[in-house]
Amino acid sequence: MNLKDLYIDFFKTKGHKQIPSAPVVPENDPSVLFNTAGMQPLIPYLMGQAHPYGTRLCDYQKCIRTNDLDAIGDTTHHTFFEMLGNWSLGDYFKDESITWSFEFLTKVLNIPKESLAVTVFKGDDTIPFDEVTYNKWLSLGISKDRIAKTVTDNFWIAGETGPCGPDTEIFYFRSNDEIPITFDPEDDRWVEIWNNVFMEYYKNEDGLVTPLPKKNVDTGMGVERTTAILEGVNDNYLSSIWIDVINLISNISGLKYEDNKESMRIIADHIRTSVFISADNAGIKPSNTDQGYILRRLIRRAIRHAFRLNIDINFNWEEQIARLIINKYKDYYKELIDNEQVVYDVLKQEKIKFNRTLEKGIKEFDKIVSNLDGNIINKDLAFKLYDTYGFPIELTLELAKEKNIEVDTLGFKDKFLEHQEKSRTSSQGKFKGGLAGNGEIETKYHTATHLLNAALKQVVGPDVHQKGSNITQDRMRFDFSCDHKLTEEEKNKTEELVNKWINDSIDVKCIEMKKEDAIKSGAECMFIEKYPDIVTVYTIGDISKELCGGPHVKNTSEIGNFKIIKEEASSAGVRRIKAVINKN
Ligand code: SER
Repeated sequence: MNLKDLYIDFFKTKGHKQIPSAPVVPENDPSVLFNTAGMQPLIPYLMGQAHPYGTRLCDYQKCIRTNDLDAIGDTTHHTFFEMLGNWSLGDYFKDESITWSFEFLTKVLNIPKESLAVTVFKGDDTIPFDEVTYNKWLSLGISKDRIAKTVTDNFWIAGETGPCGPDTEIFYFRSNDEIPITFDPEDDRWVEIWNNVFMEYYKNEDGLVTPLPKKNVDTGMGVERTTAILEGVNDNYLSSIWIDVINLISNISGLKYEDNKESMRIIADHIRTSVFISADNAGIKPSNTDQGYILRRLIRRAIRHAFRLNIDINFNWEEQIARLIINKYKDYYKELIDNEQVVYDVLKQEKIKFNRTLEKGIKEFDKIVSNLDGNIINKDLAFKLYDTYGFPIELTLELAKEKNIEVDTLGFKDKFLEHQEKSRTSSQGKFKGGLAGNGEIETKYHTATHLLNAALKQVVGPDVHQKGSNITQDRMRFDFSCDHKLTEEEKNKTEELVNKWINDSIDVKCIEMKKEDAIKSGAECMFIEKYPDIVTVYTIGDISKELCGGPHVKNTSEIGNFKIIKEEASSAGVRRIKAVINKN
């Protein structure tokens, strides 16, 4: 049995319900492009909302982290990974959480306790030393020498604000060397395999930390790393998760892994992540903004490394690798089967696009370098490589780094923003990652989104359906199916209707019901397969009924004045509205 099945089965015996993996593109979290941790889709529930599955949950969650692409190519980093997680929503706390983690590691995975070490929260000015956790580990037989106390590494929060708390991290000694008696978390032979966060606080934008309504547990264990450990390999790519992909790349290129590790790892990693992004039901396609830009960068970087391995780019190497990956994961993620052809098409089309200019671009790059006056590629040259040859700036940076040359990235960004008015919001804010604010203003925008959806249906027609939404503190963006540019009259009427509903002070209600009943009753929803059997449905009078994780205001009067600031095309058959709300 593999790690995912062992984990889920174990936590089911401890009263947990398995919840489905959420899509990689978060629906209600505007400040991140992808889910970066298992807890992300659960934020409303960690904040106190009742979860339809109860108070003990477990899952495996698809996660994507692309903030450090340069790290890819080593033995342990991946842009896509699966995170195993178990949660207590105001149910059990430190004692059971630590007991079960220890039991799973030592009894199910048969890891000797001598190979384990842990860190616990040392305490700071506001939150005390986590003595309960410290004593619990001692009682389980972890020696004092193997328990390190730290501050920064033992307080977990996704981004800047949100639910958070002290954590305890579990490490495994991954080396053939003799295990040192004293654990040093800085010694990289010790690798972190599991993080148990005792999520009892909320940190707001002013940095203020206050207790949450309930004490929760949020744990996360990386599948790739733990599998490699269990299989006794020091390079994740030699584990059963990757080895057949590496062998395939080796066959395709006719080269040995030992001599070409970096490029082969990058190709394997980036194609796998591209498969999962393009198979996601959000329908992401390579583009120059948001998730589409990440997808473009990953595919183009994989192609560049295939080029380095002298793979014939025109041959269907990318499809062969994608097919193998889909076969490996299809029993766990149904969207890979549903969208299999989409994945191959996305990869191939992007390859064709990039391939047209790749060789010329590399020649141009070499020319730029040989004619360079100083040691820096200026913004105009960097922009030319981007604009004419399709080189994402990160690719230019990577090539430059190999030649010890700098690139004026700041200048490039200015130029890029000038030319790409549309992408301004995303490239400034969201690339930083971090957690969505679920603060007061975002909550208002959430509810305004439901009102706008309902108003468009009344004004434009019942065929209007939500295709996407994105909320920041400053504005909301709403994409919807519609075959024409809205007329001034349609825009005005929509705005008036939303404001009328706000002025009518209508209560917003949240009810739980069976998914099929919710659908039968006509509740709106974007990705039905994502939802569990029991769902939360938000209703606003008889105006709107949507499946949604929240959060929402209690009454529409809390929203303030609603104003549409822009209406434009998003993609074929999809229009985009940007709107703001102001205090009355
Ligand atoms: N949220 C924590 C992490 O990502 C534990 O799941 O490490």
